[in-house]
Amino acid sequence: MEKNNPSFSIIELPPARWKEFKALRLHALKNDPAAFGSSYREMASEPDAMWVKELNESKIGKKIKYFFAENHKLQVIGMIGVWFQQKEKLRHRAKLNAFFVTKNSRGHGVGEALMKTAIQFLKGKRQYIKKIDSSVNKSQATSLKAHLKQGFRVIGLATKEIKIKSKYYDQFILEKILS
Ligand SMILES: CC(C)(COP(=O)(O)OP(=O)(O)OC[C@H]1O[C@@H](n2cnc3c(N)ncnc32)[C@H](O)[C@@H]1OP(=O)(O)O)[C@@H](O)C(=O)NCCC(=O)NCCS
Repeated sequence: MEKNNPSFSIIELPPARWKEFKALRLHALKNDPAAFGSSYREMASEPDAMWVKELNESKIGKKIKYFFAENHKLQVIGMIGVWFQQKEKLRHRAKLNAFFVTKNSRGHGVGEALMKTAIQFLKGKRQYIKKIDSSVNKSQATSLKAHLKQGFRVIGLATKEIKIKSKYYDQFILEKILS
């Protein structure tokens, strides 16, 4: 795929920009429902305070960390979340979540940059994290490719992981070991 390298930056979104976070996440859930465990309906009914809280949590960076892609017009066009395990015996693990790039911005390396930023953050500022977990819907070939390119390996295929209306979806289970 040809990449014309449009300009974008990877940023952390300050809590004051929670409306943009909410809009992007709801847009993702509405347009690519099979890619995510959360549903548009349940997230749309969350109070505004929840979105502010998520970005505040991200700023602290103990439970969750979000990174966003912003284009030259300062519009948020992509995101990735890293969720940290809290239990003592699981604290060396993090899970990727909410990985999304808006349709018009795909295929230009935005997803790759988001994933690289998340991995570099873990390698740099969270050196106790030794394993990154992720899962990808069997039908999301682009996401699978993006994961494999960053050194994730498929460790299995879990069946009937997601149910949307009456349809079930299988998911690849992936892991990346950090040395
Ligand atoms: C997965 C996703 C975040 C990737 O974002 P992106 O910005 O397009 O990713 P990149 O441009 O970095 O591309 C990653 C790889 O996929 C390839 N790719 C991108 N769009 C593609 C397409 N439509 N068809 C096939 N391959 C594609 C790229 O060429 C690149 O591989 P390469 O570097 O070997 O060329 C984006 O496609 C998306 O939001 N998909 C819908 C939601 C989703 O599946 N989320 C993941 C949940 S686990």
